[in-house]
Amino acid sequence: MAVPQHVAIILDGNGRWAKSKGMPRNYGHVKGAKNLEVICEDAYNMGIKYLTVYLFSTENWKRPEDEVEALMKLFRSYTKTCVKTAMKNNMKVRTIGDPSALDSDLQESLRVLEETSKDNTGLNFQIAINYGGRDEIVRSIRKLVKDCKEGKVSEEEIDEEMFSRYLDTHDIPDPDLLIRTSGEQRLSNYLIWQLAYTEFYFTDVPWPAFTKEDLQKAIEKYNSRERRFGGVKEE
Ligand code: IPE
Ligand code: IPE
Ligand code: MG
Repeated sequence: MAVPQHVAIILDGNGRWAKSKGMPRNYGHVKGAKNLEVICEDAYNMGIKYLTVYLFSTENWKRPEDEVEALMKLFRSYTKTCVKTAMKNNMKVRTIGDPSALDSDLQESLRVLEETSKDNTGLNFQIAINYGGRDEIVRSIRKLVKDCKEGKVSEEEIDEEMFSRYLDTHDIPDPDLLIRTSGEQRLSNYLIWQLAYTEFYFTDVPWPAFTKEDLQKAIEKYNSRERRFGGVKEE
C-alpha cells in the first residue's frame, strides 16, 4: 500500500466528543492533545514523512474567553511535553501561523521546540497555531512586496514556485492527503494554497476518539483513488 508522504489533519470535534460524555469542552481538548501524541508516533511508524495538524485557527480567537484561555494553557503544557517526545521519537517540529499574537512565553517555548528538534531526521511535524490560510498568504505578500521594494526580487521573477517559498510551509511538500475528523466538510481556512491538489478524507469520528485504525482506513481510501493532476494520472 502506498503511504502518502504528507498528511494534513484538521483535528475537529473535541468539544462535541466531551459533551457526548457529559464533560466540559476543555476535557475534550485535553484528550485531543494526548491523542495527538499517540497519532504522531503511529503516523511515523506507518511511513508518513510529514504530518501537519491544525491546533488553533486565526478565527478561534472568537471563542469564549475562558475557552481560549484554557486552550492557551493546554498549548503551554503540550509544547513542553512535545520537546520530550520530539527528542524521544526523533521528530523535527515546526510551527506555522503567526506567533506574534501569542503570549511571549508561549512564543518562546515554540521557538525552543523548533530549535531543539531542528536536527532530528524522523517525522517532520508541523503545528498550525494562530494559523489561517488567508492570513498566511497576506503575510507572504507583505514580505514579497518588501523584498521587491528593496530590489531583492523583480516582478518578472514572481511565479508559483517562488511565491511558495514565502509561505510558512516553505521547504515542506504539499499535502497528499487531508483528513478532517468529526463530520464537517469544509477547510476552515486551512492550507488553502497548499491543498490545491490534495485528496480529501472526511470521517465522523471525533478527534479524541480517532485511532491508528482510523488513520489506516483513510490511507486505504487514499490508495483506492486515482490521483490526477490536470487530467493526467500520477506517475
Ligand atoms: C477542535 O475541536 C479543536 C480546536 C478547534 C481548538 P473543537 O473545539 O472545534 O470541537 P467541536 O468542533 O466544537 O466539537
Ligand atoms: C478548525 O476547526 C480549526 C481547528 C481545528 C484548529 P473549527 O471547529 O474552529 O472550525 P469551524 O468553526 O467548525 O469551521
Ligand atoms: Mg470544531
